[in-house]
Amino acid sequence: MNTSIDLIQHNVNLQNHNTLRLSSIAQAYAKIDTFESLSHALQFAAAEKIALLPIGDGSNIILPATVETLVLDVQLRGIQVIKQDQNHIWVEVAAGESWHQWVLHSIQQDWYGLENLALIPGRVGAAPIQNIGAYGCEVKSSIDSVNFIALDKINDLNSLDIKQSIQTLTAADCQFAYRESIFKQALANKTLITSVVFQLNKSFTPMIDYPSLANRLDQTGTESDLSAAEVANAVIAIRSEKLPDPKVLANAGSFFKNIEIDQTQFSEFISQNPDAPYYESLNNLKDTANNKRYKIPSAWLIERCGLKAKRSGDIGIHQHQALVIVNYAEDKTPTTAVELIDFASQIIATVKEQFGFTLQIEPQVIPSQS
Ligand code: EPU
Repeated sequence: MNTSIDLIQHNVNLQNHNTLRLSSIAQAYAKIDTFESLSHALQFAAAEKIALLPIGDGSNIILPATVETLVLDVQLRGIQVIKQDQNHIWVEVAAGESWHQWVLHSIQQDWYGLENLALIPGRVGAAPIQNIGAYGCEVKSSIDSVNFIALDKINDLNSLDIKQSIQTLTAADCQFAYRESIFKQALANKTLITSVVFQLNKSFTPMIDYPSLANRLDQTGTESDLSAAEVANAVIAIRSEKLPDPKVLANAGSFFKNIEIDQTQFSEFISQNPDAPYYESLNNLKDTANNKRYKIPSAWLIERCGLKAKRSGDIGIHQHQALVIVNYAEDKTPTTAVELIDFASQIIATVKEQFGFTLQIEPQVIPSQS
């Protein structure tokens, strides 16, 4: 692939590039599998003054009906050990690698820390953006640093050697929080992540406090002397039971974030809803008695509102997980983002009325002009 003429496709349907299978036409689209193709695509965007939208598997985005951008389908590949010491290993993984395959590979290599995050859809480059998390673990705990290209400065890039233009943020500078990072805030739509450097452990310490994971391991009798593969297999089994496979039923995982509240709000909530499940929150605040934070599962709030079986046209709430919105549409009559957001707004309004909490949409809502 040598010229932007071969690389850039126009008016591309993105329905197969987002797991919600929303109908969306991109003004321009390029598959980025080498630094050379990235360089060509960025030069094209600079010359045409067209905005850029990097995507991975599209497992956490809500695409508008038309995207007036050049969509960069980031398929950069490669896994490379950077350094190691007695206890840790640092591994650089290219943004286009499959997240789940990377987790399995790390376990096979006896590199530990990612096992609770098995089977999360998407590619490695997307993981830091929303600080993916599951079963009591967030990816921020295993990230050393994130490498990226600044998309708002493409006129200044060294197009002859794009690698010279790669910048790095350490994990501490990524402002990781629950499903949040600087890449969704100050740097939103301004970066293309090229790779992530993970710091993994050489010895295995199971993280099995999350109730459904602990129960699962208890049932299978493997709780003592656990291996990382056993933890990953338990996570895979739970996820497969509860979460619809996007290849079979279109969805973007949890559609809403869980509710995070402080001690005062929590005391009021739990006195009115004594049977509600809750977790103490994983966050950067010090857990002193005064600033402890709590997470209430939004799935429970939605279910309590009687919405679990709700369906409107082709959009509905998944029958096994109230936090997941699914799209039943056939490809001949595809769903649009407007219909989806309209459905979500009804859920948000009902939960607000009944509990006073405003649910936040978890996937990134992409504006038509990024
Ligand atoms: N619950 C219900 N009804 C339901 C589902 C769950 O009442 O339909 C209640 C139950 O009490 C259950 C609790 O909610 O014990 C928690 O449910 P679950 O363990 O399924 O997790 P979640 O809070 O709904 C979060 C993440 C998931 C992650 C799981 C496991 C968010 C937004 N979602 O869901 O992440 O897999 O925990 O750790 O934090 C994703 O981000 O796409 C995602 C799937």
